[in-house]
Amino acid sequence: MLSNIRPTWVCIPFVCLLTLPAMPQSRVFVPDPLLHMTLGDLSDSLNSGAVSLNQVRRAGLEVFTRPLTTVQGYGDGPFRPSESPPTAPGNRPTLQGNGTSLRVNGLDAQSCNECHSIVSHDTVPPKLGIGGVGGLAQNAFIGPTQVDVSDDWHTASGRDGSADFNGRFSNPPFLFGGGGVELLAKEMTADLQDLLKQARSASPGTITALHSKGVHFGFLRTEEGGVVSLDHLDGIGFKDNDGKRAEDVLVVRPFGRKGEKFSMRDFGRDAMAFHFGIQPTEVVGRNTDGDGDGIANEMSEAAMTALQVFSVTNPPPIMETMDQEADAGFRIFTEIGCSGCHRPVMTTRSRYLPIAHPEVPHDPSANVYALIDLVDVGFAPAPTGGVYVPLFGDLKRHAMGPGLAENSLHDPIPNDEFTTARLWGVRDTAPYLHDGRALDIRSAILAHGDKAAKSRDLFLNLKQQDQVRLIHFLRGLRTPDDPNAELVEPVAE
Ligand code: HEC
Ligand code: HEC
Repeated sequence: MLSNIRPTWVCIPFVCLLTLPAMPQSRVFVPDPLLHMTLGDLSDSLNSGAVSLNQVRRAGLEVFTRPLTTVQGYGDGPFRPSESPPTAPGNRPTLQGNGTSLRVNGLDAQSCNECHSIVSHDTVPPKLGIGGVGGLAQNAFIGPTQVDVSDDWHTASGRDGSADFNGRFSNPPFLFGGGGVELLAKEMTADLQDLLKQARSASPGTITALHSKGVHFGFLRTEEGGVVSLDHLDGIGFKDNDGKRAEDVLVVRPFGRKGEKFSMRDFGRDAMAFHFGIQPTEVVGRNTDGDGDGIANEMSEAAMTALQVFSVTNPPPIMETMDQEADAGFRIFTEIGCSGCHRPVMTTRSRYLPIAHPEVPHDPSANVYALIDLVDVGFAPAPTGGVYVPLFGDLKRHAMGPGLAENSLHDPIPNDEFTTARLWGVRDTAPYLHDGRALDIRSAILAHGDKAAKSRDLFLNLKQQDQVRLIHFLRGLRTPDDPNAELVEPVAE
């Protein structure tokens, strides 16, 4: 049940600022009434102080962890072979016609937490929790139409040991610190959109460098009539930007291993459809049975908002106090160029993450109705008024070479490009790399290619002792202690 604690709420013109009081300990685990509200009711209740941010977080945790069934709309409607692409959520086939799951293209779990549940894979036994990473068995298979399990495809050259696969194979990252990442991305998007405006009003031939927070995304060239060319982007946009609006291309999308999604809510919407065949009303409309499974309103806007609030308030990873060896390791990390992509810390201008609905990818200030103070979530305030986000990343994609490239047919992003893995928490998050192929940190470093080949080679050329120092430093980057514990029911004594 919800308790009536007085939430701490501050309203400034237009938006309300949400703060985090200690979670009241409730004893009964029942379907959360907040999830059944309209979004308007939910924001009114927040505005009037009738519910607190932690109550919404708790409701979001329920969305994240409660096993879904067909009563709630789990599953797609009947298979429709004419649907294109045949891999799109909506009318997918099920494995051996079992009616429920497919596994090799979504329909692969009953709850988000089935895949995001390991807080530390470094400790024995592993530390489990809500919002963590997944092991290899929790990998998602994204968008394939064929898997060469018996290795028959290359009959001309004989079986070659490669079970070819024309989709993506992806290992689940954690949600920790996502609010800080989202705010960085939104501020960077705002910067790039300003540069786009500048470029549009510049004279033909002008080159406008695209940069934000010290990260460079190539440049725009102004053509006749204020048209800007998108031919010189770096690490942002799509495989093919032709015919796309520049506003939509110049959006920093930090979520997903290839940078597909601009916000955690954006990710959550697709995750619902892909993993569970759950179609949020904000995607298909109210009272609409989009997949023909007999259920409408499978996930309300209020439930998605609760999930969003839960997701962006996951606490950030932590860094252990560095000893002398770690200090030396950090220096080497910087000297050999690792920090060029794995930027140790990025700083936001504001400490408040905007909560908006509907979100407009290229305009982070649109439809904002609440702000979450990231200092309350666990980020350290910066003197400039923002927060430090010690992510060891740059929110940019890089070409990593043919060794790591995927073989996806439909992905809108080049197969060899991945967003720089954020190394915060890296000690605890094995396996590594996008598909979990590297079982330890050293193997992950050795697999770097193309744009990262130089720094990989510098690593290989280090004295053994210096390689050990660098890895020792990385092992000081830990996931948070007991994330979200305050939201979990106390165990009955
Ligand atoms: C079958 C396993 C699985 C399930 C179930 C699952 N995820 Fe994920 N999750 C993944 C994988 C794999 C990725 C990386 C996807 C990629 O590479 O694009 C991911 C990525 C994410 C990310 C982006 C994290 C980042 O830092 O890039 C978020 C947020 C997320 N999932 C939330 C959810 C939510 C919310 C649900 C439930 C609606 C969910 N996930 C269900 C496997 C899963
Ligand atoms: C050109 C940019 C770039 C440089 C330079 C670079 N990396 Fe990376 N790093 C990446 C990208 C991109 C990934 C994700 C690749 C993937 O998922 O397959 C990654 C992944 C990793 C991972 C795996 C993390 C995880 O959670 O899966 C580790 C560890 C790592 N890098 C360490 C290093 C070290 C140490 C150096 C310096 C020797 C370095 N990187 C240099 C871009 C870079």
